[in-house]
Amino acid sequence: MTAQHPLRGDVAVLVPAAGLGTRLGPGAPKALRELGGAALLVHAVRRLAQAPSVGCVVVAAPPGRVDEVRALLDREVPPGVTVDVVEGGATRRESVAAAFGAAPLSYEIILVHDAARAFVPPDLVERVAAAVREGRAAVVPVLAVVDTIKRIDESGHVVATPERSELRAAQTPQGFRREILEAAYRAAGDDATDDAGLAEQIGVRVFCIPGADRALKITRAADLAVAEALLRDDVANLG
Ligand code: C5P
Repeated sequence: MTAQHPLRGDVAVLVPAAGLGTRLGPGAPKALRELGGAALLVHAVRRLAQAPSVGCVVVAAPPGRVDEVRALLDREVPPGVTVDVVEGGATRRESVAAAFGAAPLSYEIILVHDAARAFVPPDLVERVAAAVREGRAAVVPVLAVVDTIKRIDESGHVVATPERSELRAAQTPQGFRREILEAAYRAAGDDATDDAGLAEQIGVRVFCIPGADRALKITRAADLAVAEALLRDDVANLG
């Protein structure tokens, strides 16, 4: 594998943003909740668009909110980056499939990024894109886990304690060559909680790269407090 000068704008990013976010408590769909005066989705798309590799972003919006989301994102992307918005589905997988269907065929590198990871560093986007560009079929950013993880049964008893040093927490954006993601979504495998999981089900070897603390998934109310701190830090760094 040789280091190559990154091509600008050769990556399309699919952004599933149609989840209700019930674990966050009552309110608007998660991606449309505001933090520091902007929706989480807006924060996410701004950061994706700052990555020079990204030429196109396709968002899967909550059902019935397509026009509203389009209006929110209209002014958020720099010239040279296109944004499309489609209606998401009842599951994350359906939402990703809807966005994939709207991504121009000219893009050979496809990233999938959860809107809930609103503070994704553009550098992480670049590193995932670069690994796919250099020949990896599927790429996932990961972090070491700090908790000991238990496998449990339906009665609430522990059945196994996997060796922690072998475990990693998977983040997004996850990157794929277009035909790999196409094949993973075409196969009628079990549902998976991430796209790399679908690729694994069809036998693809998924390559891991270091993730980023800032790419945390905003899921529960306490995560919002962390996100606010990250936002203050971002603003301070820009100022
Ligand atoms: O539920 P979870 O936190 O795993 O959702 C991850 C991402 O998938 C979120 O950005 C959410 O908006 C999105 N999603 C979606 N359509 C659904 C469910 C979740 O786009 N039906």
